[in-house]
Amino acid sequence: MTDPAKMTEAEAANRLMRLAREIARHDAAYHDRDDPEISDADYDALVAENKAIEAAFPHLVRDDSPSKKVGHVPSSPLSKVTHAQAMLSLDNAFSDDDVREFVARVRRFLSLNEDEPVVLTAEPKIDGLSCSLRYEGGKLVLAATRGDGTVGEDVTANARTIGDIPETLKGAPDVLEVRGEVYMAKEDFASLNARQEEAGGKIFANPRNAAAGSFRQKDASVTASRPLRFYVHGWGEISAVPRDTQAQMVAWLEGLGFPVADYFKRCESVDEALAVYAEIGSARAGLSYDIDGVVYKVDRLDWQERLGKVAKAPRWALAHKFPAEQAETTLNAIEIQVGRTGKLTPVGRLEPVGVGGVIVSNVTLHNFDEIDRHRLRAGDRVKIQRAGDVIPQVVENLDYDDSREPYPRPQACPECDSEAVAEEGEVDIRCTGGLICPAQRFERLKHFVSRGAMDIDGLGAKSIEEFLELGWIRKPSDIFTLREHRDELLAREGWQEKSVDNLLAAIDARRGFDPGRFLFGLGIRHVGAVTAKDLVKAFGSVAALEEAARSDNALEQLVNVDGVGEVVAQAVIDFFHEPHNREEVALLLKRAAPADYVSDVQDTAWSGKTIVFTGKLESVSRDEAKAQAERMGAKAAGSVSSKTDLLVAGPGAGSKLKKAQGLGIQVMSEEEWLAEVAKA
Ligand code: IVH
Repeated sequence: MTDPAKMTEAEAANRLMRLAREIARHDAAYHDRDDPEISDADYDALVAENKAIEAAFPHLVRDDSPSKKVGHVPSSPLSKVTHAQAMLSLDNAFSDDDVREFVARVRRFLSLNEDEPVVLTAEPKIDGLSCSLRYEGGKLVLAATRGDGTVGEDVTANARTIGDIPETLKGAPDVLEVRGEVYMAKEDFASLNARQEEAGGKIFANPRNAAAGSFRQKDASVTASRPLRFYVHGWGEISAVPRDTQAQMVAWLEGLGFPVADYFKRCESVDEALAVYAEIGSARAGLSYDIDGVVYKVDRLDWQERLGKVAKAPRWALAHKFPAEQAETTLNAIEIQVGRTGKLTPVGRLEPVGVGGVIVSNVTLHNFDEIDRHRLRAGDRVKIQRAGDVIPQVVENLDYDDSREPYPRPQACPECDSEAVAEEGEVDIRCTGGLICPAQRFERLKHFVSRGAMDIDGLGAKSIEEFLELGWIRKPSDIFTLREHRDELLAREGWQEKSVDNLLAAIDARRGFDPGRFLFGLGIRHVGAVTAKDLVKAFGSVAALEEAARSDNALEQLVNVDGVGEVVAQAVIDFFHEPHNREEVALLLKRAAPADYVSDVQDTAWSGKTIVFTGKLESVSRDEAKAQAERMGAKAAGSVSSKTDLLVAGPGAGSKLKKAQGLGIQVMSEEEWLAEVAKA
């Protein structure tokens, strides 16, 4: 065991995460299955190590820390679990062309010949919630919801109540995580709602919500009383992969006892896959469960592996969504909302109407040009649509009148009365009040604590509003001083010792937190979650990013980061140029102390090196070669400079090769490069 005094914060956080996972696994093995995997002494050593690290880094104590567990609560309902393998989401396609482009992308990435078929599987996209079922030695030991893809909720006891989910498997490998969708059939949903109504219980808006509400229950006997079902669509960790293709794997899983959705089909070509889409589309209304599209997957597992993933979605799968569902209703009012960056967004309040199983009462109107385009006014009849998870929108004004004066542009912010202006060349109108605008302040705080950012449990919109009003929290860094108000807070209505201490602990748990989420939480324009991660990955820490953004060659340094263009780079520079932002970041760095970036890439001879690919690569595509380099810890750059360590040159390499030779940079062929990859 490493001496905690010699650990960096990032190492400590990482080790604590692993210990939490490992100890929980041993707890379950010991208490739930009477089948311990390690000796008591080894178990105690893990607990002691956890304790020693926590003593050295008290602000890193995790919500799911073993030190917080009083004894072992048998499969404690809805505690958090870290997935052994991330649960991914899917990229969406909305047209046949999108699907053809997906296959073309796969071909390019894998450098396939024109005549090489790309076999796909096609199957319905079920509108439920995904669930990972972990079997060890053929026994169900853990069921978890997807959560944020990395951490989900433990729903083991609940999953055991679902008839479609086998408790034991015959002939399964040692470790097998089965992934699929928990859903409720339409008919069961209707009768559940009827029963709920009679009993004065909660009425669910649609089968998906009913499934989620029933499955994510603290009390598994409630789940047992709800008619839930399960369809398998994939797998996570698996100790031995028994088959070579997706279709064979699905058939194998079916053989183990997992239900597979109707219409699952292996398709030799994209045309065949699109025919399945059309077939499922026309069967949709008559199916006994809700679906919202068709999922295609590359059949060959070796190709899936090479294709890998981008952000949170695999490159080898695609969701082809069905067109949006539409309805007509009355637009009762147009109101203006002020966003985090001061953007004024008009929203339409509707006469509530059902669209595709959901009651809709608000639509986004995007911006004022959109209102002009439809010549919208309160009182108009409108056609609206919703597509999947996106906010419903107006597609047509049924009372359209061309001669109407356009809806007036706001001159002042409805929240703080500061001047509202449209920036040169932009359609958006913004409040100029900055942080004096209560709406902006509120939205920024909400964003900072949101799930994709700092994810502070228990600090919801209502509490933020309360603390803003009390003047305790005006900016994100104040969140970390909330403890000073503990006694006052305890005296307030609606707060008990437990809720106050839980909130303060949730805040403390975010000291030393992930730097990418921290950066995303700052709400810099154009810096989304993925860009934020790319930035901290490139610079190592938020402080180093700030230094780069304030340097003489800031633009050059920033655009050098993969995925960062000039607009993003300029936004980052502008942000750190503002003294009040720097002041706030300094306070945050002191109080929240985000960790440095820890990479998950391999340590190889190429780690830290800069590699440029040029010319035609024959057996891998440029994108795959870059991904290989990144996995080996190297940086793939676009142009040759004195900082380049290696140029991989295929046939037809021109100026880059000359430049590299001129600079005395090492040059390799594609074949030599692939040998390096194989070595890593
Ligand atoms: S595959 C790595 N197949 O859709 C691919 N997902 O939008 C992971 N879903 O989180 C998913 N039906 O909950 C897959 N036949 C299907 C699906 C399906 C529904 C859900 C799943 C996933 C979400 C992504």
